[in-house]
Amino acid sequence: MTSDVLSFLTEFVRHPLTTGAVAPSGRTLAGRITTPVPRTGSPCVVELGPGTGAFTAPIHRLLADGGRHVAVEVNARFVRRLARRYPSLELHHADATELGALDLPPADAVISGLPWTVFPAARQDTILDAVRDLLTDAGTFTTFAYVHAAWTPPGRRLRTALHARFEEVVPGRTVWSNLPPAFVYHARRPIRRSLEGVPVGAAPGDAGRGLVRETGPRPG
Ligand SMILES: C[S@@+](CC[C@H](N)C(=O)[O-])C[C@H]1O[C@@H](n2cnc3c(N)ncnc32)[C@H](O)[C@@H]1O
Repeated sequence: MTSDVLSFLTEFVRHPLTTGAVAPSGRTLAGRITTPVPRTGSPCVVELGPGTGAFTAPIHRLLADGGRHVAVEVNARFVRRLARRYPSLELHHADATELGALDLPPADAVISGLPWTVFPAARQDTILDAVRDLLTDAGTFTTFAYVHAAWTPPGRRLRTALHARFEEVVPGRTVWSNLPPAFVYHARRPIRRSLEGVPVGAAPGDAGRGLVRETGPRPG
């Protein structure tokens, strides 16, 4: 067992609801969820719930030529491990619900490892609103869902909440080799809100409705 797997399992036993999984994500899932990281320029990439760093490592590699890598993690032990391993990572020991208060620059990509299905609806909404508001117009939000949980009420609620905030929400192919099997949601074109909470440019009565591609996860 690698030290990351052991550390993850230990934190799952200590904090099952925030850790949300028994093992870190595998390499294939990490490769899929980090595809939106821009390869050139000085992009800003924000990672939510990095844990032991399954997505942190590929993001770091992709940003080798420059850019800003910000991570927000609530678990103090994970924060200490990440700080030792990635000294240049801009690490916030914070709850992702505080994302809007962290004074971050507009993000080109937000990549989430958060355990959405254990979150109450209000927490999902607060974090997703902050993600939408942080992204540039061309920015992308990627997050993953476990196949077994995607069609439970909290899993369906996440999908609906994504559709309410992004014009395009596309589920990727299932990664069957992941433990447990999972797929990535690729959410693009954030729907901006007016002060009244209605999507900018929408007809009256369209509040909360995105232009969506309603498809299930594609088989791997
Ligand atoms: C399912 S694990 C994913 C870890 C890693 N990204 C991976 O895929 O292996 C969820 C991570 O989100 C963190 N987390 C849970 N709730 C959080 C919150 N409200 N704010 C920030 N991090 C949170 C947990 O501590 C844990 O590191």
